[in-house]
Amino acid sequence: MTDSELVAAALEARERAYAPYSHFTVGAALLCTDGSVYGGCNVENAAHAPGTCAERTAFLRAVFDGHRDFAAIAIVGGPAGKPPAAPCAPCGVCRQVMMEFCQPNAFRIILAGSPDQPKSYTLDELLPLGFGPENLSGNQPDC
Ligand code: THU
Repeated sequence: MTDSELVAAALEARERAYAPYSHFTVGAALLCTDGSVYGGCNVENAAHAPGTCAERTAFLRAVFDGHRDFAAIAIVGGPAGKPPAAPCAPCGVCRQVMMEFCQPNAFRIILAGSPDQPKSYTLDELLPLGFGPENLSGNQPDC
């Protein structure tokens, strides 16, 4: 699957977003290493805090289906009803969720302000020195 195809899947997922409070709709498409793809959208809540980002929706769906190995995630977002005009970077909580399951120097985060020009970052780049399962196992990498 190309990065542009993954962005197309994220754009499709964005159409499912439930964002009546922020009116900022986000879609994500998570690529598992076995080639399967899980979409996610943001799902907001009247009490605000229980709202969930598109990226976490995708991860939770995939983990529930038994996936633990992930290659990349494409993320698109912006004001509802408009095509994305700027890259939508993942929030800190979503970066931390990625850290739980992904190799920081291999997992790719694909952002697309415009769908035909995706830019790819590693998790390492977006979450330097992240805290993950390795830290608890005593095998943490050197600083
Ligand atoms: N949001 C996401 O779903 N993913 C991001 O990467 C950034 C923010 C959502 C959360 C909230 O529903 C809305 O966008 C505005 O913050």
